[in-house]
Amino acid sequence: MKKIVSIVGARPNFIKLSALCPLLEKNFNHIIVHTGQHYDYGLSKSLFLELHIKKPNYNLLVRSGTHAAQTATILLRAEKVIKDEKPDLVIVYGDTNSTLGGALVASKLNIPVAHVEAGERCGNLTVAEEVNRIVVDHISDLLFASSQEGLKNLKKENLENAFFTGDLMIDSAKQTHINANQILKTFNLNNKKYLYATLHRAENTTGPEVIKMIINILNDIGYKIILSLHPRTAKVLKDTKISTADFQNIIFVKPQPYKNSLALIKSAKFVITDSGGIQKEAFHFKTPCVVLRGEIEQKELVKSGWTYLVNPRKDLNYLKNIIEKFSPPNSHPNFYGRGTASKVIIGLIKSYFKHES
Ligand code: UD1
Repeated sequence: MKKIVSIVGARPNFIKLSALCPLLEKNFNHIIVHTGQHYDYGLSKSLFLELHIKKPNYNLLVRSGTHAAQTATILLRAEKVIKDEKPDLVIVYGDTNSTLGGALVASKLNIPVAHVEAGERCGNLTVAEEVNRIVVDHISDLLFASSQEGLKNLKKENLENAFFTGDLMIDSAKQTHINANQILKTFNLNNKKYLYATLHRAENTTGPEVIKMIINILNDIGYKIILSLHPRTAKVLKDTKISTADFQNIIFVKPQPYKNSLALIKSAKFVITDSGGIQKEAFHFKTPCVVLRGEIEQKELVKSGWTYLVNPRKDLNYLKNIIEKFSPPNSHPNFYGRGTASKVIIGLIKSYFKHES
């Protein structure tokens, strides 16, 4: 039986892995290497339990650090594991430093690499994830694009062995039973009457200025807001003595369990986020979404009329207007597949092995 190692380390990696894991387990000898990039219970262990992902075979306990330190530690520790395990294929997911570290290690050991969520591009090389994606795509042997746009980007860069598979996050969302009433009751919210916001990106959370502008605008926007704070964002608020108690209209919460997060997205009037995954989940549930960034990978979402790109450094004043003027577009294209990405990916891996042997 062929041996496959999945290398994961951060929350969005785990969600993608959860959709693929059962089929990897069924068809291959599957080993999970958790780099330890995310280590807080709410960002890591709780997701493994909630999404029924098997306990990682290895945890490299890398934790936080500068990009160089974090990536270098992943390289050193993952190299040892990959040398010992000698897999036939390494799979990496998304665009985190764990994705980069995992792909580099395997590539240097001449072990084939498959990249899930290949081809996403925002066009800005100052975004850490953009560098990770480009490098990983260019050293991978199998490229699984979650959208046709992603596939086009890979073709433009003359990359071969690239396939449209659909998005594993849609598989996962479709397989999850959501109890919206429960979560609405917990936070005393009414269906489609509140905004759900999340904020974590380095561009928005390095220093307090942008966060301050965003939460001030949200507080005055005229809707009840539930704002999920990544530990990085919470730390900046704490370090700069911004008190959440000063924002009466915002309910600040820790990163929510996966099911709660889906329920909050589904029932919100609008989602406001800088997360790549949450914007796709909002689209899946037909909840309009504002992406708080200067640029976006999923340009198809903006074109569709369901997603608005708002640069938090320039355009925050438009936020209220966008929310109030929104009317749902007539069409809701199927950009990310119908929840069958895991099956497609397994089929492609099997035919890759057949072809190689
Ligand atoms: C990482 C990914 C990002 C992804 C995000 C999802 C990279 C470059 N970025 O960003 O693409 O959208 O995960 O959450 O890989 N921290 C904790 N506890 C943890 C993890 C982090 O407190 O369990 C804090 C630390 O202060 C740390 C900071 O968050 O320094 C940043 O963590 P890091 O893993 O470097 O990046 P994320 O912002 O989580």
